Amino acid sequence: MIEQEKIEEVKRQTDIVDIIGRYVQLKKMGKNYRGLCPFHSEKNPSFYVNPEKGIYYCFGCKKGGNAINFLMEYEKLDFPDAIKRLAKNLGIEIDTTKGLRYKELYEVNEQACQFYAHCLTKDIGRRGQEYLLRRNMKLDKLQDFRLGYAPASGGLTTFMRQKGFSVARLQQAGLISTNRELFRDRLIFPIFNLSGRIIGFGGRGIDDFIQPKYLNSPETPIFKKGDGLYGLYQSKEKIRSKGEVMLVEGYFDLLSIYQHGFDNISAPLGTSLTEQQALLLSRFARKAMILFDGDLSGIKAALRAIGLLIDAQVDVFVTLLPENSDPDTFINAQGAEALQELVGNAADFFHFYKGVVKTDTVAQEIALIKDLIQIIGRIKDPIRYDRYLKYAAHVFDIPVETIQKEINGKVKTPKRKIQTTRISQEEELMAMILSGYEYFGVVKKYLKSDDFIEDGIKRLFKKLLKEENFDIAELSEIVDEVLREKLLAGIMRGEPVSEEGMLDAIKKYKGQVMEKRLIKKQNEAYKRGDEAAGEQYNKELLALKRELLNINTENAASGEQ
Ligand code: CTP
Ligand code: MN
Repeated sequence: MIEQEKIEEVKRQTDIVDIIGRYVQLKKMGKNYRGLCPFHSEKNPSFYVNPEKGIYYCFGCKKGGNAINFLMEYEKLDFPDAIKRLAKNLGIEIDTTKGLRYKELYEVNEQACQFYAHCLTKDIGRRGQEYLLRRNMKLDKLQDFRLGYAPASGGLTTFMRQKGFSVARLQQAGLISTNRELFRDRLIFPIFNLSGRIIGFGGRGIDDFIQPKYLNSPETPIFKKGDGLYGLYQSKEKIRSKGEVMLVEGYFDLLSIYQHGFDNISAPLGTSLTEQQALLLSRFARKAMILFDGDLSGIKAALRAIGLLIDAQVDVFVTLLPENSDPDTFINAQGAEALQELVGNAADFFHFYKGVVKTDTVAQEIALIKDLIQIIGRIKDPIRYDRYLKYAAHVFDIPVETIQKEINGKVKTPKRKIQTTRISQEEELMAMILSGYEYFGVVKKYLKSDDFIEDGIKRLFKKLLKEENFDIAELSEIVDEVLREKLLAGIMRGEPVSEEGMLDAIKKYKGQVMEKRLIKKQNEAYKRGDEAAGEQYNKELLALKRELLNINTENAASGEQ
């Protein structure tokens, strides 16, 4: 662990505008700074940074947090690494010799990877070796991927124990679930992050009837599905130098064509491509070549991916494979040259779209044209935009001006989504508490976790009571995403907090929200004839009122705890 004191020092000295300003062009707007959100594609800025509160928030995609969150999200760092990065900028030295929580999970995965890889080379891994042979895989060409085999009889737990890792750690890493090793009799594909650390695993059942055919690690603190891409670590330099990425659907597709020399590939992990992944790819590639299965679901996935990649300003081409084949079966049946040729003849997204969408009626044709125009309208590069525009005009025999009008009407003015998600009174109070965290010493004199009824808020309050140095970056570990977004939005919208303001808000909360709740309960008690309960609520109400009277004066009188 990094010493708490150091973390505090780094946080105190960090200027969020300076940090985010290195990545996003920010303009001062009153108390806030505003810019184009780096986490989703937009033309009108809805990304705000508030230096006073030290947070950022995008009203469009709802991503937000403090400077640490920003670095974690943007640079794909874990918490300690984000702190270290900030510290380095500030010239603060940090000693990280002691074990970190994330680091330990990486270490667990690393050791597990070694175990699986070792099994694959031994007698116990014979089924894995035979399987690879059957599928024409050449391990010597795939060393960077560190494939392995998880024996049917298990053995990981024993191995890891000998290495000094507890069962609890294995559980945290997702390798054990309900006392059972997750992967058994499966070929193992370690999944790497961009720095080459193993964040999770995929496993393919050796027998085809095994369900599910592929099993992936569950989400853990270091593994989030839809964030990373399989093979990106091994391919990223090639992707960068070629400016182009090939996208395939599966593990075997990737490995199979990789061993034939296609080395700028990656694959989304068992999900259709996400916005996050498209943005990640756009950091390395200007152009994407989609090579999805030649079936309906492959086409659908490709259509979806096109929009996301275009939004990330990546030019898209699609290689349509013959029906019933995927890149793996194709290259095994036809060879690398045939695949190369197919890829060479790939259609740009426009042709592909037009080719696969059925238009038997005028209405269908209009829908197709509108879809395509929508996509073209999202291209920012003026030259590419212009080419596609003229091209669409030519293909559909429609004047360029008509298309432009459609684009101007539909695409250029996406209504800025200033979210007006309803936020409850206790959520609002909690946002304020977080915003004015320096006054928590006062807050905890007047509030207890039972004063809240929402589970997430209760949990968070308990955590605040327990932990001395709470950081907004930890919110995601305590509350769900929806609540986190609401709280961040609340912090961003709210005024800076003063001690008096904080006390007033608590008073208001107790005097209005809690009092109403009690009165309601009391009425219900009397209605069902439960005098005792009614009396009890009465006492509580009186206590509440007395407390309300004291809040300000008591505090002004002294700073006692
Ligand atoms: N996948 C998954 N979980 C499943 C099924 C699929 O995570 N239950 C992911 C895997 O990454 C898989 C990809 O989706 O590689 C594509 O799935 P599919 O086309 O069904 O399999 P193939 O890649 O063709 O696998 P194989 O060739 O081994 O049959
Ligand atoms: Mn396949």
